[in-house]
Amino acid sequence: GTEILKQGGNAVDAAVATGFALAVTYPFAGNVGGGGFMNIRMADGRSAAIDYREVAPLAATRNMYVDAATGKLTNKSLLGHLASGVPGSVAGMAAALARYGSMPLATVMAPAIRLAKDGFVVDSALFRSLRGSRNALTQFAGKELFYPGGEPLAPGTRLVQADLAHTLEIIAARGPAGFYTGEVADALVAEMTRGGGIITLEDLRRYKAEWRTPIRSTYRGYTLYTMPPASSGGITMTETMNILETFAPLPAYGSAAYSHLLAEAFRRSFIDRNAKLADPAFVKVPIEQLTSKAYARDLAGTIDRAHATRTPAFKSSPEPEHTTHYSVADNNGNVVSTTTTLNGGYGSGVWIPKGGFFMNNEMDDFAAQPGTPNMFGLVQGEANAIVPGKRMLSAMAPTIVMDRDGKALLVVGAAGGPRIITTTTQVILNVIEHNMTLADAMRAPRLHHQSLPDELSYEEGAFSSAVADSLTMFGHTLKRAAGLANANGIMRVNGGWIGVREPRSAGKAVGY
Ligand code: GLY
Repeated sequence: GTEILKQGGNAVDAAVATGFALAVTYPFAGNVGGGGFMNIRMADGRSAAIDYREVAPLAATRNMYVDAATGKLTNKSLLGHLASGVPGSVAGMAAALARYGSMPLATVMAPAIRLAKDGFVVDSALFRSLRGSRNALTQFAGKELFYPGGEPLAPGTRLVQADLAHTLEIIAARGPAGFYTGEVADALVAEMTRGGGIITLEDLRRYKAEWRTPIRSTYRGYTLYTMPPASSGGITMTETMNILETFAPLPAYGSAAYSHLLAEAFRRSFIDRNAKLADPAFVKVPIEQLTSKAYARDLAGTIDRAHATRTPAFKSSPEPEHTTHYSVADNNGNVVSTTTTLNGGYGSGVWIPKGGFFMNNEMDDFAAQPGTPNMFGLVQGEANAIVPGKRMLSAMAPTIVMDRDGKALLVVGAAGGPRIITTTTQVILNVIEHNMTLADAMRAPRLHHQSLPDELSYEEGAFSSAVADSLTMFGHTLKRAAGLANANGIMRVNGGWIGVREPRSAGKAVGY
């Protein structure tokens, strides 16, 4: 991305270059076999959001992940060929570039192609993630490349991805048609057919990224542009912040009163999220109502300042890390906030021979069995049930915050399933409500509540033991979490921009 900015590209050129580069260097979540959302604000005042979320294949069925004999959910929405939605990243990034970029696709893809062809040096983070995913990935064709001799690529090894380089070269030459038709599409469908998957050439041919109008909301004079459905991120953040805005000023960071209010606001907005949000092409989503200040005031009125509201409890599943977020700003004031994912780390584990990329396991973001928790412990309803051609509901929340003068202030988002929403909200609140620097806002310990399971997750240091006692007395079930989400952000400061990468994990902020 920086290379493209140095060549005179704008923030969108750099964001697309970064997206393709991550598909090479961060196979854990960067992708061409997945999807995502990009939120764009141009210095001339134009705002746009592009939704390149995966869609359910045409042959998908409502109960495809339910075992007919036992009635129980299988793990096929997570692992293997059936887990994938039709990928959207190539279509989305190319569309964003064509409308808001200034450079040809081949130019912005050149660094990614070089990284795939010449290779890059494996670092300890990639090694550790490969080691952690060994059981899943060695069941599929990527095992030769990523586990030579059965062992994960060691730190210091140069990883050359010739098949992926070839795929990227075809896309650079032919545009999205080079991915959705022709030899790459053939390779993808051949692997699906071989492994019992259901994505067809017709699915690929029909895939379309969708331009959306960003959700615009305000918080104490700041303006937020966030992601509309098929992501839940923008509505859920807006609803939460609208509720919190009614409490002026908010209690101090780290206090029992603040932690309780955050939890109760998140609880209410996630209850709506899980029941009402879904792909707007299939479900009528009450966006106006859910994002209105009046509705938030009603919800705020139901919060008891000293008692947690109970919601029925379900058992949660383990929550793996996944997804990636990057933010870009250029010297003209154009900004781009992008979140992209394969869902779980390395997606479904399925790697496309000749294509050279991993496929997503995004189908697990549907309510595979409405009422039953998914990988993130999210209990979702009928609105998000599987239908062919439908986008599965996301939590991705690439966000742009404008200051009171209407200038871009913060470009932020996160990885981490539903914790994307709670983390992005808290980073923003830390800056504009608690007056933290971006570095402090990112480092500050986080909380998470997603209504079900009815638990308040917290990172070490989020509050003192006395505050924890108070929260327990209020009726919260506290759950210690190691590293809630993975955020990355940029903030405008006097004299320029400051970028801060997630202090809880590997990553980098780069500028020049
Ligand atoms: N796959 C995680 C999300 O979209 O929320």
